[in-house]
Amino acid sequence: MENIKSIFITGASSGLGLALAQLYAKEGVIIGLAARRFDKLKSIKKELEIKKAKIYIYKLDVGNLSLLKKCADDFIKKIKTIDLVIANSGIGSKFHKPHYSAEEIAEIFQTNTIGVTNTISVFLDFMIKQKKGQLAAIGSVAGFRALPDSGYSASKSAVHLFMSSLRLRYSFYGIKFSTIAPGFIDTPFVKKHTFQMPFLLKPDKAAKLIKKALTRNKKLYIFPWQWKFIVPIVKILPDFLIRIAMKDKLTFPK
Ligand SMILES: NC(=O)c1ccc[n+]([C@@H]2O[C@H](COP(=O)([O-])OP(=O)(O)OC[C@H]3O[C@@H](n4cnc5c(N)ncnc54)[C@H](OP(=O)(O)O)[C@@H]3O)[C@@H](O)[C@H]2O)c1
Repeated sequence: MENIKSIFITGASSGLGLALAQLYAKEGVIIGLAARRFDKLKSIKKELEIKKAKIYIYKLDVGNLSLLKKCADDFIKKIKTIDLVIANSGIGSKFHKPHYSAEEIAEIFQTNTIGVTNTISVFLDFMIKQKKGQLAAIGSVAGFRALPDSGYSASKSAVHLFMSSLRLRYSFYGIKFSTIAPGFIDTPFVKKHTFQMPFLLKPDKAAKLIKKALTRNKKLYIFPWQWKFIVPIVKILPDFLIRIAMKDKLTFPK
């Protein structure tokens, strides 16, 4: 999809969401930016309005459907049509914790999975009415294989399948669905990672690749390119090799 004029991005207060907002911002473009840290959004709004983009900011938790709906309705009122929604908000797993915590797993699913289903749901009806638009969700290369994390890989796997289900059900309304599965990106998200991150990308480079993939209406975009070859191999690796590969990142209950 080309000539994007109106976009809504969740998780726009840092990392990839911020880089996407910076990339799309230009004169004539209206962007809705959402996240919990409103101070960050305020300064990003100032920065992007220098580029003459029109920016609306929303303080919200993507797990809160009623608030998200209010914000989406407000944004929709301000624009004629919505071209693109990027459900990007996400949090990671705490590998180093020996015990699984129900609260932590719930928080991961609430943000990474329910956050995406909520974000898509509050824009879908409007896109059906206007008979066009593009809905994108940020998954992960971790979503293609069970990993010994605290639910992160499962939360992203659900996002991948959810987007494919939506495409099957709604693409004949003229709506495009894209699942983006990044490898490692150098954002605050990976700052606590103590392990080697192969093919680490800068957020601005990642944003450019995503924008290109969305313009080409890719159903599933795995990047950087090396992961397209690694993912099919990792998918069939036996569990013991995954455990060996990740043993430095894990601690177990004593
Ligand atoms: N970095 C990587 O290597 C990598 C790899 C694969 C996939 N991803 C995915 O890429 C997406 C962006 O992550 P990032 O790397 O840019 O990390 P990041 O810099 O930590 O950004 C995460 C964003 O999500 C927002 N967020 C977190 N919880 C939220 C909630 N409950 N409600 C609303 N917003 C929330 C954060 O804003 P607030 O804290 O202000 O709410 C922040 O803007 C995530 O979905 C992540 O899983 C990242």
